[in-house]
Amino acid sequence: MSNERDHLLPTSNGRNHVRDDISQEARARELRAAKVRAVVHSSLTVLFVVGVVVFVFLGLNNQWPWGGGLPKDPLKAVLRILDSAPVIDGHIDLPILVREFYANNVSAVDLTSPMPAHVDIPRLREGKVGAFFWSVYVSCPEDVGYDAGDDFLNASWRVRDTLEQIDVAQLLIEKYPDTFQVALTSQDIKNALTEGKIASLMGVEGAHQLGNSIAVLRQYYSLGVRYVTLTHMCHNAFADSCGFLKSPKPLHNGLSELGVALISEMNRIGMLVDLSHTSDATAKQALKQTKAPVIWSHSSARAVWDVPRNVPDDVLELIGTGENKTDAVVMVNFAPYFVAAAGNATVQAVADHVDHIAKVAGKNHVGLGSDFDGIGEVPRGLEDVSKYPQLFAELYKRGWARHDLAGLSGGNLLRVMEGAEVAARKLQQEGAQPAYDIYKKRTDIGKKREGRWSTEEL
Ligand SMILES: *[C@@H]1O[C@H](CO)[C@@H](O)[C@H](O)[C@H]1NC(C)=O
Ligand SMILES: *[C@@H]1O[C@H](CO)[C@@H](O)[C@H](O)[C@H]1NC(C)=O
Ligand SMILES: *[C@@H]1O[C@H](CO)[C@@H](O)[C@H](O)[C@H]1NC(C)=O
Ligand SMILES: *[C@@H]1O[C@H](CO)[C@@H](O)[C@H](O)[C@H]1NC(C)=O
Ligand SMILES: [Zn+2]
Repeated sequence: MSNERDHLLPTSNGRNHVRDDISQEARARELRAAKVRAVVHSSLTVLFVVGVVVFVFLGLNNQWPWGGGLPKDPLKAVLRILDSAPVIDGHIDLPILVREFYANNVSAVDLTSPMPAHVDIPRLREGKVGAFFWSVYVSCPEDVGYDAGDDFLNASWRVRDTLEQIDVAQLLIEKYPDTFQVALTSQDIKNALTEGKIASLMGVEGAHQLGNSIAVLRQYYSLGVRYVTLTHMCHNAFADSCGFLKSPKPLHNGLSELGVALISEMNRIGMLVDLSHTSDATAKQALKQTKAPVIWSHSSARAVWDVPRNVPDDVLELIGTGENKTDAVVMVNFAPYFVAAAGNATVQAVADHVDHIAKVAGKNHVGLGSDFDGIGEVPRGLEDVSKYPQLFAELYKRGWARHDLAGLSGGNLLRVMEGAEVAARKLQQEGAQPAYDIYKKRTDIGKKREGRWSTEEL
């Protein structure tokens, strides 16, 4: 069509005047031809739209009636799906492995050859991974020999060690520029995917890593961290934890006053609130407080396997887009002790968790947060990052449609992250100010608030 038109346009070789000589009859001919073209064009448009509708409808039901459709073999079919909708994993523990095995010496780490646990570049590629959150986790104080004290005031190097883990994640990402690309926004993830890179984000796994300070939250954000888990396995100054296999006695009965301020500030700056590891009371209160969508970066379903670390149905029911519900994505954890009885954790059992969360919260609210490199054992059939397609094949066999599988692999996380970005922009436009709340138990800051300045006391 553009060729036809080009003939009518003036050219630079001195024959422009031809147009002026077009006769009346020629104009009429042109008009008739244009009408015919218009009719043909609109018919083609209608056909095209009908085609798209049929294509999408059948596609959604995985029923491709022609040769270009999905292969019959479930694994081949999901590999095709994952090529265009790669996995975004909410929780990978590679940095802590590098701390423990290599003392954070990045030059000693070769991600191009087999790594000791579950993650290296060849296996990430085989598993169709398009993005993941690098957990910049450090242990609760008690787990590394510190007594934080009843008020969490004793020094325990948690902020230094977190900075070291942010450093090691950044250096590893930089070491492989052809593979990894830093992502700070949902758009950055999409851009990295388009370039065939693995988008790399960071998540801080527990507010014990904040040194009781909301200022530290802001600084982690400026270093590129995009989620903070409200607790790890210990209570902290902000919120109560669910513990490990048994729940500890509550301390705040959910969020503390400082925890409420923390969530507001996370919403304002666009730091995702992560509710994995939190007590049920913390999770419920956080869902009420938050003005942005939230995540569970690595948590499974309690109705399928009854441990405190898994999300109960009465919390899953609070997730959604309807009235009194909060948009969220629960990213299923593969740790065998959260999945099933000893010896029973399999790819099918993990699929049961995905199915259950999809049933209660909706297929738009489930994702994957394997916990690879942070777990000693793995489910049968999901041994490392190369195996995600096995889980997708299992769900495909159970009737999951291609667009739901694409949501599970990463679409749902992208929506939630974008939602948090939009919420932050809105709060800032409405004039929300930085939170200056100081932990009430601290006595080292603002000592002169009521007094006079005198330099000899400095
Ligand atoms: C870090 O690892 C490299 C490679 O193994 C080694 O040559 C170097 O000595 C290590 N550096 C330190 C400070 O241990
Ligand atoms: C930590 O703080 C508590 C008070 O909460 C104190 O009794 C304890 O001795 C402190 N422990 C250390 C190792 O400083
Ligand atoms: C939402 O919550 C409000 C206040 O608790 C309640 O009045 C209302 O009925 C709830 N709506 C739904 C759909 O549950
Ligand atoms: C483990 O799985 C088997 C086979 O499905 C089942 O019979 C058994 O009860 C399971 N064990 C536990 C402790 O749930
Ligand atoms: Zn964890």
